[in-house]
Amino acid sequence: MSPAVSRSVAAPAAPPPIPFIDLQAQRRRIAGEVERAIARVLAHGQFIMGPEIAELEHRLAAYCGVKHAVTCGSGTDALMLLLMANGCGPGDAVFCPSFTFAASAEVVALVGATPVFVDVGRDDFNMAPASLEAAIAGIAGSGLTPRGVMPVDLFGQPARYPEIEAIARRHGLWVLADAAQSFGARLDNRRVGALGDFAATSFFPAKPLGCYGDGGAIFLNDDGLLEVLRSLRVHGQGRDKYENVRIGINGRMDTIQAAVLLEKLRIYDDELAARERVAARYAAALDGLVAVPRLRAGATSIWACYTIEVDDRDGVVERLKARGVPSMIYYPRPLHRQEPYARYPVVPGGLPVTEAVAARVMSLPMHAYLDETTQDRIIEGLRDSLP
Ligand SMILES: Cc1ncc(COP(=O)(O)O)c(C=O)c1O
Repeated sequence: MSPAVSRSVAAPAAPPPIPFIDLQAQRRRIAGEVERAIARVLAHGQFIMGPEIAELEHRLAAYCGVKHAVTCGSGTDALMLLLMANGCGPGDAVFCPSFTFAASAEVVALVGATPVFVDVGRDDFNMAPASLEAAIAGIAGSGLTPRGVMPVDLFGQPARYPEIEAIARRHGLWVLADAAQSFGARLDNRRVGALGDFAATSFFPAKPLGCYGDGGAIFLNDDGLLEVLRSLRVHGQGRDKYENVRIGINGRMDTIQAAVLLEKLRIYDDELAARERVAARYAAALDGLVAVPRLRAGATSIWACYTIEVDDRDGVVERLKARGVPSMIYYPRPLHRQEPYARYPVVPGGLPVTEAVAARVMSLPMHAYLDETTQDRIIEGLRDSLP
């Protein structure tokens, strides 16, 4: 009797999990450089305001084409320092979207001013100029003084600055760009940082340019404002450490984070080009199946998120997850629907586009190291998950 031939049937290897953002892939590329940069800080020991801070500020300003960059502890600090430097406080209205991360409106409330929520456009999820006009008109007689506009460059594409700046000029308002999600993007050949009167960005680790902790930066051209910001960043410091000329905060960036960012900035343009390729492949595969993000004429995006609109979002997210494909929802609850912000004014007529997109958006994995095979798995998974 011939022995039974036993054939071992190996179970097919499970495909590797797909990260939503693969920070480790980037780390593998520049680990040596980053570790040497950190080691230099450990050796010189100037952990606060060491030489890497000034070097980074110089490089960031040059990158954006503005006179000054001021690093700080986070994107939230960057926004708040700008509000403080402009003397924004109780009785002042600042117009901002509700469809954004909480920090945008939070800082307005923190300085004692009033966020007034403005609707966004369906095509780019960014502040709608007509809604801004209506919101400014809407607070007439409320006792609030319109002071500034805070457009948010959501998901990586700059807001409609030319239109927003024109409205702001007519009403004597400043424009503070919340560029936390758009550092590196352009609009009509102006770089983010040079859009608006001043801008704030975030280097939170998950941002396209992220450090290894919290960090942020402010961009501006005004020399007088620069001095105020530098003072506010260090407890309202005057000519020396123990002279305090205004109420400030401890808002400095750590030297180690600046050292990390200097290394990451060297490869940033290359990473932005890779993000662009990933976004183009998504668009080619998904346009017509779902609502894919659109760039306005003259705008580029850094694709901080690749955000689509779908029917039956919760079902799609669940089915995708079952296929091993992660996704995120930015942002399921607009701020005006959240308890701490519900008491602040919204534009007359409400926020119908904000409500609609908040119920339909979802973001797909997006980073500079997303290879085509993995992206094809995501695309197939999404196709199979649509209602
Ligand atoms: C639109 C927007 N504004 C502000 C911030 C705040 O930045 P940070 O987390 O660095 O304080 C973020 C961060 O996610 C953001 O996305």
